[in-house]
Amino acid sequence: MHIGHVAMQVPDLGASSEHAKQALGLIEIEGGEGAAYLSTGLKHHEVQLIAAEAAGLDHIGFELADEDELAALRDRAIAAGARILSEDPEEPGLEAAVRLVGPGGVVFELYTPMAVSPPGIKQQIGRHAKRFGHVTLVSEVGRDLVRFATEGLGFRVSDDFADFTWMRCDANHHSLAVGSLPDNKMHHYAFELNGWGGMMSYLDDIALRGESVNYGPGRHGPGYNIFTYLPDPAGALLEAYTDLQMIYDDATYEPMDWEETPGALNLWGPDMPANFGEFGIPILAPREGDSR
Ligand SMILES: [Fe+2]
Repeated sequence: MHIGHVAMQVPDLGASSEHAKQALGLIEIEGGEGAAYLSTGLKHHEVQLIAAEAAGLDHIGFELADEDELAALRDRAIAAGARILSEDPEEPGLEAAVRLVGPGGVVFELYTPMAVSPPGIKQQIGRHAKRFGHVTLVSEVGRDLVRFATEGLGFRVSDDFADFTWMRCDANHHSLAVGSLPDNKMHHYAFELNGWGGMMSYLDDIALRGESVNYGPGRHGPGYNIFTYLPDPAGALLEAYTDLQMIYDDATYEPMDWEETPGALNLWGPDMPANFGEFGIPILAPREGDSR
């Protein structure tokens, strides 16, 4: 399984779409009717924007190899307490899909591979984002979310720090991180950049647009990624990172508790700004009859 996309409700669709294009070089694959589907170019979408009154996390998408894997994971998720919302594709670009809700009202969308373009030069070199990488949630039922992600969706715990757990579903150190704190939000979503050179171009472009990062560049302990965090128009942070740890051998990997490591969240030193934790958009639990 690989992380596929994040779907966000946003109050200013044009502003959010334009920001994703400018900051990350994303392409709008499909739009109109109050929605925009944006991608680095490989997939139909990696960001799904839905026009709404207020900002919020609509759902998180994970891609599986085929319909057999999808059916097996659906059953496993139900056994771990998931409630099915829909078993039909609810958006363009999907062929077979299941939407289900887990602890804290988090909606997961599981699906067979999206329409793919062959990998091109654009994804491998230059200043544009390579791929969608992860989301970080904060929930008062964070512990239940971690249990559901591991038991129900097959994630493996990669590392811990205080109330946070980083989890992987493929070789990437994390595709999902969860904080267990009295809150209910997606704090940030993240795209991978092309190395330190791509990071420099990304940051120079931010300066030329007159924007400013909230935090970074720095290097996290958990995952060792070089990170930057940029406020997006809807109120979440957009992390752009490179050099994330890859775990190719599950048998020999040992999760680490970073609690006692000095500077665990930034090995290069500077602590996070005081308002770093204030960013995020609410996790929108589905209402009755809501099949998203
Ligand atoms: Fe979606």
